[in-house]
Amino acid sequence: MIFTIDIVSIKKQLAAEAAIEMIEDGMIVGLGTGSTSSIAIDLIGKKVSEGLNILGIPTSKASENQATSLGIPLTSLSTHPSIDLAIDGADEVSPSLDLIKGLGGALVREKIVENQSKKLVIIIDDSKLVPQLGACPLPVEIIFFGHESTSTSLASLGCTPVLRMDGDKPFISDNGNVIYHCTFPNAISNPSDLALKIEKIPGVVTSGLFVNMADIVLVGSDDGLQTLKRS
Ligand code: A5P
Repeated sequence: MIFTIDIVSIKKQLAAEAAIEMIEDGMIVGLGTGSTSSIAIDLIGKKVSEGLNILGIPTSKASENQATSLGIPLTSLSTHPSIDLAIDGADEVSPSLDLIKGLGGALVREKIVENQSKKLVIIIDDSKLVPQLGACPLPVEIIFFGHESTSTSLASLGCTPVLRMDGDKPFISDNGNVIYHCTFPNAISNPSDLALKIEKIPGVVTSGLFVNMADIVLVGSDDGLQTLKRS
């Protein structure tokens, strides 16, 4: 019998395990979205079944469904507007811990939840560490009305925006909007400036640039766990 070891999954698991050690009894916990967050949610579910007392706030319908199926009690930002700790993945992490997020399509709820979190812990495998953001496309969520013309305003910022599809139809986010994946040919030299320019365009809900938000990045690598902290 041949066994294949999925090294990337092991790295994600390492980061997720370290993150859930930061959860304390009584906390309000932001639950991220994506394959790495899904590992963390599974681990939280196990801890809850063993007696951990927390309330989760999911960043997507997918995370909500997973948490519910595991018996993790949930609350909302209306009831608990301040979150103690949010745990989420990322698509890219720069040396200053700025992020591109949202290739999983959940950027808006992730940004809302994580903006309300006292501490944001990002869990990644080391392939997500980049010298400069922008090797992957930047997701931008846009209101459906007039989205084609909104995308031309995005293009005027120097990128090529491509509508995210779901088969032969536009992908529709949990918020009922479309998402454009924007490729910047020369990467992103000034993420905070770009984030402001994108978010000024009427029709844009938000971009996947998470600037100055991550407090800690836990990285699973060949050498074990690496912990990066924002200075
Ligand atoms: C979801 O919208 C994203 O922000 C994810 O957190 C990001 O895409 C990372 O996902 P993986 O953990 O699956 O790589």
